Amino acid sequence: MGRTIIVGTGVLAQAAARAIERHGRQAVLVGRRDGVDVRGPIDLRPFTDGEPVDAVLEATSTHANRPADAVRFFEASARHVAAAAHDVDAGMHVVVSIVGCHRATGYAHYAGKVAQERAARAAATDATPAIIVRSTQWFTFPGQLVDRLARGPVMPVPSMRLRPVALDSVADVVAEIVVGKRERESACVCGPETMTLAQMVARLEGRPAVRIPVPLPGAAREARTGALLPTGGVEVVGPRFEDWLREHPDGRQRELDA
Ligand SMILES: NC(=O)c1ccc[n+]([C@@H]2O[C@H](COP(=O)([O-])OP(=O)(O)OC[C@H]3O[C@@H](n4cnc5c(N)ncnc54)[C@H](OP(=O)(O)O)[C@@H]3O)[C@@H](O)[C@H]2O)c1
Repeated sequence: MGRTIIVGTGVLAQAAARAIERHGRQAVLVGRRDGVDVRGPIDLRPFTDGEPVDAVLEATSTHANRPADAVRFFEASARHVAAAAHDVDAGMHVVVSIVGCHRATGYAHYAGKVAQERAARAAATDATPAIIVRSTQWFTFPGQLVDRLARGPVMPVPSMRLRPVALDSVADVVAEIVVGKRERESACVCGPETMTLAQMVARLEGRPAVRIPVPLPGAAREARTGALLPTGGVEVVGPRFEDWLREHPDGRQRELDA
């Protein structure tokens, strides 16, 4: 039976592993705790156990604040994960990117994602193609931002118009591609409703009491006016944010589902 090696151990890695396992395939998560640091060359051969590798999923991330740092991280990540995927004869190298990132490259993370897509495509071969799954922001996004940005009861909330989506629904799309239930083709996924990040944070249980609107650094106008919204050719997947919150009232997923 084939397996997917997932580089990263965060929320995407865990959701993708669950989705792949629901299809009866194996998923192996590897991260820095296993000696796999994507800032340099990595070796995934110890994680195959002699099994064929359906896919290598790149599920790494950085909180770099400067575009140049984010670009350096994601470029290195894509290049090193692609090379390692080739070395284990993986059926594909999957990258999960962000809808509209190329329209808001002043924001460090999005500049990095554009560089990651480019590096993955440049390293692709016929045997191990680069499959890019672009998704809008996940329902877990406001909770992740609260954890990073809130200082006691006060939180700066970047002004963003979004069309957020459930991470598990994105993970299902990734899993279907990996296990061969879909064409080995890039995909674009979003949720059913448009809303602002401030509206999402306001609905979280335990939200910071004082929420101060701030511009998204480097891409204020684009984020506020909807450059991150999908523009067509995008697959809409449920559930609605309100329905997802019933199961995840504080907006977190890792602790509840792990
Ligand atoms: N959040 C969203 O709304 C959203 C939407 C679309 C796409 N995405 C993309 O999804 C990807 C994953 O995001 P996430 O929310 O799952 O991130 P996350 O929970 O912060 O996890 C990121 C993972 O990156 C790994 N990592 C960081 N530096 C590393 C290094 N030098 N070497 C190896 N691994 C390293 C870490 O693994 P270890 O600490 O175990 O090493 C960590 O588990 C990101 O690229 C993001 O752009 C996110």
